[in-house]
Amino acid sequence: MIVLVHGGAGRYRPEIEERREVILRELSSAAVVGVETLRTGNALDAVVEAITYMESCGEFNAGKGAVLNIRGELELDAGLMWGPRMEIGAVGGLKGYWNAIKLARFILEETDHILVTGEGANIIAEKIGLEKASPSKRRIQFFPKIRERTLKGKYWWRKNLEIYNLLGYSTVGAVALDKEGNLAAGASTGGIWLKLPGRLGDTPIPGAGFYADNVCAASATGLGEAIMRALLTFRACRNIALGLNIKEAAREAIKVLTLISGPNTGGIILLDSRGNYSFAANTEILLRAIAKEGEKPKAAIKTSEKLVAIK
Ligand code: GLY
Repeated sequence: MIVLVHGGAGRYRPEIEERREVILRELSSAAVVGVETLRTGNALDAVVEAITYMESCGEFNAGKGAVLNIRGELELDAGLMWGPRMEIGAVGGLKGYWNAIKLARFILEETDHILVTGEGANIIAEKIGLEKASPSKRRIQFFPKIRERTLKGKYWWRKNLEIYNLLGYSTVGAVALDKEGNLAAGASTGGIWLKLPGRLGDTPIPGAGFYADNVCAASATGLGEAIMRALLTFRACRNIALGLNIKEAAREAIKVLTLISGPNTGGIILLDSRGNYSFAANTEILLRAIAKEGEKPKAAIKTSEKLVAIK
């Protein structure tokens, strides 16, 4: 029984040291919530609970900590995949509610659809009683001048990418292996700073932001436009099917991501049905944690850092 989580990737900024303890604690708590769920539940339950924790803690770019679009609105994306039957549920551009991953689960289990956006997503959110988002908890927008000029049509989002690159990414995600040997994967995000309304990234797209079958599960974080071009999570899992070991599989997928879209574009967590795992990124930081039954959780911030045990 094992759960891996990620909480974002991007450039290293010294200010992150001020929040190091909190970040490591929240990452490891999410992984522990996942492993505790595995005592009675399956890998899908564990992924949903770990991600719900990260959406609700407000520390990451998902749920209560989500970034806002160029108009200052909250638009959340999430995706979830159950490996044994390759079933998928995903939601794009959810407005007005915090926990997009729970909505993705409803779509996976209760509908014949895979990806729902707009009014349909709101109908489901009402039906399952998702917690309503309160504007007071949203983060302040950066770069008011850029926002103003973009809103006036002076330049488009292409320019905003440069700024976004400096801010980093902090989409959350999880993969889990349960005692039956089943795998699941998921991800949740507010998207990217200053995104256009209606923009969807990799997080609700199967094979890009998340993927699971009965051999491998993967979840990605980073620039959605780059991750979608590389089909990052499917690529990493396919590498295992082609015979690469799990470290090589993750590294090769990140190499392709870099070749297509350049450095500082993303990271991935990968777990196979035998409990082997790996993390890889072309960014300076990859927030990540792992928890196994009966062991202390471990977490790390910089991509080059080793995981350290968290009390
Ligand atoms: N990875 C999150 C996004 O690009 O939307």
